[in-house]
Amino acid sequence: MHYSTLFPLAALAGLSSATYSLVDDYGSGTSFFDGFTFYTGTDPTAGYVTYVDQSTATSAGLIKAEGNATYIGVDHTNVASGSGRQSVRLESNTAYTTGLFILDLAHMPASACGSWPAFWTYGPDWPNDGEIDIIEGANLQSTNQMTLHTSDDCTINDTGFAGTLENNNCYAEIDGNEGCDIVAKNEESWGATFNSYGGGVYAMEWTDDYIQIFWWIADDVPSDITSGSPDPSGWGTPAAYFAGDCDISSHFKENNIVFDITFCGDWAGSVWSSGSCASYASTCDTYVQENPSAFSDVYWLINSLKVYQS
Ligand SMILES: *[C@@H]1O[C@H](CO)[C@@H](O)[C@H](O)[C@H]1NC(C)=O
Ligand SMILES: *[C@@H]1O[C@H](CO)[C@@H](O)[C@H](O)[C@H]1NC(C)=O
Repeated sequence: MHYSTLFPLAALAGLSSATYSLVDDYGSGTSFFDGFTFYTGTDPTAGYVTYVDQSTATSAGLIKAEGNATYIGVDHTNVASGSGRQSVRLESNTAYTTGLFILDLAHMPASACGSWPAFWTYGPDWPNDGEIDIIEGANLQSTNQMTLHTSDDCTINDTGFAGTLENNNCYAEIDGNEGCDIVAKNEESWGATFNSYGGGVYAMEWTDDYIQIFWWIADDVPSDITSGSPDPSGWGTPAAYFAGDCDISSHFKENNIVFDITFCGDWAGSVWSSGSCASYASTCDTYVQENPSAFSDVYWLINSLKVYQS
């Protein structure tokens, strides 16, 4: 009993759910970038993109502070050349195993033919360390798609979430690396519609037993998030809940956080000819190369990114 007199609040909270404490606040404006490395290699997803370093991105206006928020965009003024349209791919310097990741957005990339934005996490030994795609879409997609990619022996149940399960097998080496993916139910989860509400919040909770994702438009964000004491147990049904015949703790570890906006490549490019974007140009690369102004609304505007652990 002695501990409860020393730590009464922690003991009480522990009865119902994990209590989360802030471990990383990525900060505001350009200080946000201090927590990230700018990846400048070839796009692993074969995109028509040139990932530039921090100083190039700053002088080209691809990244900047907007008030206290952090703007991350793409080149929307020049015809593209070389390996593709200029953009950035940021990878967090810190890796995490489990946690609660809360991204407060004033704006997310609006849908545009050829673009493929993502906010996601992955570990160094892919796919054995896992990949969690929290916000992702391509071309004129109208709702958010949430996906896990893993090594073999990880399938998820079609229960406990509001979205629609597209594929239940998370194994990356089958089904063209589709992964196990859940599409959000409402268009408010994505792009211009999300932005029309003034943005909102995405939260991803990763425990040893499950991974779940929630989102809200700005007016609906739970007050415990705004006050800095997030408690997922009160948030109701998640948009995505990944659990089933899958040992989460063995399939996911040491994930870094990534923001990127690529073009064409393995997703936006591979489905180009079968979608409505094909009427604009015969290939995705040509369209992205020649139409910079199509990408002026393709940017992240981040109010905050905070990581909590229990
Ligand atoms: C930026 O943050 C500071 C400190 O929280 C606050 O005083 C200021 O009003 C904010 N500025 C804007 C433009 O939101
Ligand atoms: C997944 O579904 C199976 C079959 O209904 C059930 O036995 C199992 O407990 C479920 N797993 C989780 C983690 O919900």
